[in-house]
Amino acid sequence: MIGRLNHVAIAVPDLEAATAIYRKTLGATVSDMVDQPDHGVTTVFVELPNTKIEFLGVLGENSPIAAFLAKNPAGGMHHLCYEVDDIYAARDQIVAEGGRVLGDGEPKIGAHDKPVLFLHPKDFCGTLVELEQV
Ligand code: CO
Repeated sequence: MIGRLNHVAIAVPDLEAATAIYRKTLGATVSDMVDQPDHGVTTVFVELPNTKIEFLGVLGENSPIAAFLAKNPAGGMHHLCYEVDDIYAARDQIVAEGGRVLGDGEPKIGAHDKPVLFLHPKDFCGTLVELEQV
């Protein structure tokens, strides 16, 4: 059911520093910063030949990554994003198999203007999983 790895997300305390490391030290192509006020994060995308890295920085007071950064002050891997063809069919299959979907279970529009869902890390090998309909 799941398809390509769309991105690996890394939460960081300092987006400028993360951008500099990937642009200068690692020689990667890095996007501009984009505020995502609906999601409480600022994002930067690193384009790699086979996938992307998404940097997540805190935006506003109720950012969903604030608690993660409190536990991981240097930053760390936050989630994996897999592509699916039909997010409702994917959700229904996962729920039928006992997997938990976070929030109200309804897809939200994510950072690429496409529907996304997040899955409970305890049900997926200790890793937060994002599904994106492509
Ligand atoms: Co993501």
